[in-house]
Amino acid sequence: MKTQLLKSTEHKHAAEILKKGGLVAIPTETVYGLAGNATNPEAVSKIFEAKERPKFDPLIVHLSEKYLSDPLLQLSQDGLIDLGLISSDVKPLIQTLIKNFWPGPLTLLLPRGKKIPDLVTSGLPLVGLRMPQHPLTQKLLSELNFPLAAPSANRFGKISPTQAQAVMQELDGRIDAVLDGGPCQVGVESTVVQIISPHEIQILRPGGITQENLQKTTQVQISQAQPKTADHKISAPGMLDSHYAPDKPFFMLPSSWENLSFEKFDKIKKLLQKNQNPSGWLIFWGDEQREKEHLERRLGLPVIVKTLSPIKENWTEAAQNLFLCLRELQDSQAQILFTEPCPSQTGLGHAISDRLQRATAQWKSIWREGA
Ligand code: TXA
Ligand code: MG
Repeated sequence: MKTQLLKSTEHKHAAEILKKGGLVAIPTETVYGLAGNATNPEAVSKIFEAKERPKFDPLIVHLSEKYLSDPLLQLSQDGLIDLGLISSDVKPLIQTLIKNFWPGPLTLLLPRGKKIPDLVTSGLPLVGLRMPQHPLTQKLLSELNFPLAAPSANRFGKISPTQAQAVMQELDGRIDAVLDGGPCQVGVESTVVQIISPHEIQILRPGGITQENLQKTTQVQISQAQPKTADHKISAPGMLDSHYAPDKPFFMLPSSWENLSFEKFDKIKKLLQKNQNPSGWLIFWGDEQREKEHLERRLGLPVIVKTLSPIKENWTEAAQNLFLCLRELQDSQAQILFTEPCPSQTGLGHAISDRLQRATAQWKSIWREGA
């Protein structure tokens, strides 16, 4: 299959492909999504195939802004949710979330309606719904009379794409088209939440809407889902331990590189001396060239450095750059990669930390004693 790279002016062409049951990667404010008609089981099935995604990992359904007026009623009339299963005491909380965070990077889990095929929710009783904020994708949705099921447009387990070129790298030859809407502004995926009661919202995946923002807006308790249920079934598959992973060994440092002990540096040197190529380093803040020079002086070996922002604590920029930096390190000459641990667990730091934990999940062992 030849994958077309469509310009932003060609959204009507993208709409035609989707109407025929084809797949188009679309820009959203968070990351690019791999979209197909959410009400068409064949189109949804093709999404799983193109991504090589296991069928137990459910998809988010993307909505047009037309649902902003009386959303619960309209969603129910279109068969996307089952309003009868939403108790009246949680409706005001859902409405507050929609009013404040849609369109935007918040995915709400609600009882699914008849029009949503089993495959979209992996047979689960709730469907993940979100209204993307990207103007081009909203234009595209306004051409369609169905919503779009769209996981992130990467092969399963790989780095999420935040630019059209990155989607091409992941899925060229597997999908009909990529609609180029420029780089994504948020850079990490949506926050996935479930309403537990009128007094509690649970975060299943941290993302673009922060826990603090949810708390301030709703004034209810915000809890965190446990990564795995007791029977080891995943409660939210975005919570798979290993995810977002580059194609090469990727280790999380125990501290910022400047605070590494001599012992730890020795361990890293030993690991690298077997290797001819430079090592790749994801560093949170600072000027890339300066960090590179300092690190090379300390390590005595060549390095490739990517920083998330030149400005300390610029979390918005850090989130925007995260997946791009990871991809650049993956595609560089570096054979082994390191990342600093995320210096904050609050705000966007929560989502960034989560992604880095998962990206390094299979490579923890070198820090263990004797390893
Ligand atoms: O920002 C985003 O959310 C991006 C853009 C494209 O919208 N999409 C995205 O989709 O990140 P994906 O498929 O990579 O991650 C979706 C995750 C699932 O892995 C799961 O954690 C959660 O959302 N999810 C979706 N539907 C669910 C459901 N019915 N029940 C539980 N979790 C669900
Ligand atoms: Mg994903």
